[in-house]
Amino acid sequence: MKRENALHEDVNQAGLDAYWMPFTANRYYKSHPRMLVRAEGAYYETDDGKRLFDCLSGLWCCTLGHCNPAVADAIGRQAKEMDYATAFNMGHPKIFSLAQRIADLAPEGLSKVFFVNSGSEAVDTALKIALAYHRVRGEGTRTRFIGRERGYHGVGFGGMSVGGMMANRKMFSTAMVPGVDHLPHTINLSQMAFSRGQPTWGAHLADELERIVGLHDASNIAAVIVEPMCGSAGVLVPPVGYLQKLREICDKHGILLIFDEVITGFGRLGANFGAQRYGVVPDMITFAKGVTNGSVPMGGVIVKQEIHDTFMTGPATAVEFFHGYTYSGHPLAAAAAHAALDEFEKGGLFQRARSLEPVLEKMVHELKGEPGVIDIRNAGLSAAVELESIPGQVGARARKVFDRGIEENMLFRFTGDTIAVAPPFIATEDEIGRMIEALRTCIRAAA
Ligand SMILES: Cc1ncc(COP(=O)(O)O)c(C=O)c1O
Repeated sequence: MKRENALHEDVNQAGLDAYWMPFTANRYYKSHPRMLVRAEGAYYETDDGKRLFDCLSGLWCCTLGHCNPAVADAIGRQAKEMDYATAFNMGHPKIFSLAQRIADLAPEGLSKVFFVNSGSEAVDTALKIALAYHRVRGEGTRTRFIGRERGYHGVGFGGMSVGGMMANRKMFSTAMVPGVDHLPHTINLSQMAFSRGQPTWGAHLADELERIVGLHDASNIAAVIVEPMCGSAGVLVPPVGYLQKLREICDKHGILLIFDEVITGFGRLGANFGAQRYGVVPDMITFAKGVTNGSVPMGGVIVKQEIHDTFMTGPATAVEFFHGYTYSGHPLAAAAAHAALDEFEKGGLFQRARSLEPVLEKMVHELKGEPGVIDIRNAGLSAAVELESIPGQVGARARKVFDRGIEENMLFRFTGDTIAVAPPFIATEDEIGRMIEALRTCIRAAA
């Protein structure tokens, strides 16, 4: 095995075979193994002593940078005080106060928080709340969901079904949740390539919702779910007016609107949530990732008061919603989230993300004209550079950029032939500049 001497000693003893890695080309990885062994601030350290700038904040989650001391201390203290607390018919103080803090950050009217442990669970939970809500209020025929092409809503059966990424769906096509339609995605390079921020073309694509309503009748449709900005598909930015139109059409037909803010929640767009950034209030918001700075898994759904209250009927001793997870509201996650929220507030970090947005926007768009670059997009403190695919080898060019990035001390993320960057909010202008210049070098090397 290459670089064997450099591998961490646990791996030298056990080998790489037993671990089936998620969303990874396992055979390629295991013949080119790379280990991250330490992290601090905006940097990872590899087993062979490289210091890599974390261009995607982990997987969009470590927005404060890694190993934030306040978060680490809070987790350590909580692990000694109470490691686990059952969430069913019992509670612990930190999770109640956390729910209130999260509700306070959400748009007005979204005031109840249901906790889960990941983005996928948050999405499945939101879909189940939508179904049960309509049923409880006597519209049990509303069972259909509408997602969007190229949307990513995690890998549970619900999220996969409303999601629109072909590779994540094709192996499971007959096992999808039934009754799902998809809006068209909003990317059209001939109309909007190299837009800075929100494209001005494309609001009319929301009218497709009317067509789907016309096909099934609103009385059968429970909810529409979209990411305000699609992160995983490569920073697809909503056209000006598009989300507003979706909201209007949902309102007209009594359809719930769910914003999946697993990536956009907690500051990535320079606001608490994408809902506030784009000025559209959904009925539910899903979150995960940044809420604990990625340190302990946690997710959740923020729900409109009226939806929650609809469930609060029947005898007070009856369970109102038969749903939850062993680790819902986990004390370590709650402690980590409180500490992360304190740090966001103390450092004014959502505002910092907003003020770094024009810096990243200017620099990343200077990559226009580099070989193979067919689009550049940006929103908040995130951006994507789309490369022309080599015919028959989708992803090959971006993988070259990724591999070369490591030589340049950058950990990039690629999906298909798109490279996304979303640095931690603590990144400096210099670091953002170095990241973009390294990306330029890598793009040229991959040409
Ligand atoms: C918008 C969105 N929803 C859901 C998920 C799934 O989250 P998880 O991987 O925590 O299940 C992701 C993950 O990237 C996401 O970006």
